[in-house]
Amino acid sequence: MTLCWRFTRRLTITPVLMPLVVASIILSFIRMPQIQISSSGGSTVNITILLWYWPFHKNYSLKGDVCLQSYGIINCHLVDNRSLYSSADIVVFHHKELQYHRQKLPLHLPRPDQQRWLWMSLEAPENTGNLDKYAGIFNLTMSYRSDADVTVPYGKLVRKRRDLSSFVLKHKTHLACWVVSNYRAKHRIQVYQELKRIIPVQVYGRAVKKPLTESALLPTISNCFFYLAFENTKSAQYITEKLWRNSFQAGTVPVVLGPPRSDYEAVAPPHSFIHVDDFDSIDSLGHFLQEVAKDEKRYMSYFNWHRDNSIKLYTDWRERLCTICQVYDKLPIYNIYHNLSFSA
Ligand SMILES: *[C@@H]1O[C@H](CO)[C@@H](O)[C@H](O)[C@H]1NC(C)=O
Ligand SMILES: *[C@@H]1O[C@H](CO)[C@@H](O)[C@H](O)[C@H]1NC(C)=O
Ligand SMILES: *[C@@H]1O[C@H](CO)[C@@H](O)[C@H](O)[C@H]1NC(C)=O
Ligand SMILES: *[C@@H]1O[C@H](CO)[C@@H](O)[C@H](O)[C@H]1NC(C)=O
Ligand SMILES: *[C@@H]1O[C@H](CO)[C@@H](O)[C@H](O)[C@H]1NC(C)=O
Repeated sequence: MTLCWRFTRRLTITPVLMPLVVASIILSFIRMPQIQISSSGGSTVNITILLWYWPFHKNYSLKGDVCLQSYGIINCHLVDNRSLYSSADIVVFHHKELQYHRQKLPLHLPRPDQQRWLWMSLEAPENTGNLDKYAGIFNLTMSYRSDADVTVPYGKLVRKRRDLSSFVLKHKTHLACWVVSNYRAKHRIQVYQELKRIIPVQVYGRAVKKPLTESALLPTISNCFFYLAFENTKSAQYITEKLWRNSFQAGTVPVVLGPPRSDYEAVAPPHSFIHVDDFDSIDSLGHFLQEVAKDEKRYMSYFNWHRDNSIKLYTDWRERLCTICQVYDKLPIYNIYHNLSFSA
């Protein structure tokens, strides 16, 4: 079966209307920067955000005015040069490197009065280790959670301004696919093992010695009717790139395992996913997937959201850091986290 599905709106433009159309297109470009630029607190002075070290030892260029040029955020000076410490408004520490003792906090340095230290983690609290030793050190938090001072989700839904885009689904050769790098998370292994007794599941990833390169990932997943977007940890609001990139970006329907359905509904497009919890057994989930794949109309209904929505992925640390300036005005001026486990 070849699934080809387009949302193309034919727009007939008569010669009379043509200049108007051209003019409005030009206008929309002229006005764009104004729409995109967001004030960073009405301040004319740069907010200096110092990243103490790059997450996962991967550094990126901070040349020029990155926040303005790439994300339209003004007065936001992003730096990674530690000698700027004394003039930094916010110093950012990514938790993973602290957890594995690859980096240390500069506790010996005197802290300027107004300076705030920000704890940044995109992992589920269940995987951050014991946070007790960080009591009374940080002033701000940044995570995917809505209760963090700075919320940086893995992706988000955006209303499309124009619906002229076309959307074509790739031909599907596999019913269900899964990419798994490790077999540590027992809850998802169990679901997978029960599911594969009912339906064929194509598995990729380091765990099965079938690794996919970054560039092969989405094209491979796009061949599948369903993608098993199983999070490594079931944790409130913990919805990662497995949903936003691997599923939505690839043009497949995610079968999600993670926080409760209501957490997904709060952020994901309407009628865009299938939740494992919706079924009283994995058997019935398997049979359901088979039925839906056979029924083209029903399967396609999971892509209806493309008509008025698109998604935005957050993958670049620079973009995440620039968003600090966007919410700068709303950040607590004086605050101490005596217990980061608040988020567990
Ligand atoms: C990353 O750091 C290395 C070593 O300090 C440096 O040689 C390289 O130019 C940096 N890359 C970027 C993109 O800043
Ligand atoms: C603010 O930072 C940008 C980017 O680093 C820089 O180009 C600009 O000159 C700075 N402006 C002020 C007023 O310091
Ligand atoms: C860091 O900043 C200091 C002081 O402004 C400057 O002398 C030094 O060259 C900078 N280092 C890098 C790697 O840009
Ligand atoms: C922080 O909160 C967690 C969970 O409420 C608790 O188990 C832990 O003992 C607290 N730590 C400190 C240092 O108070
Ligand atoms: C930030 O936290 C430190 C350590 O607890 C504290 O001494 C400092 O006053 C706090 N600063 C602000 C601006 O909240």
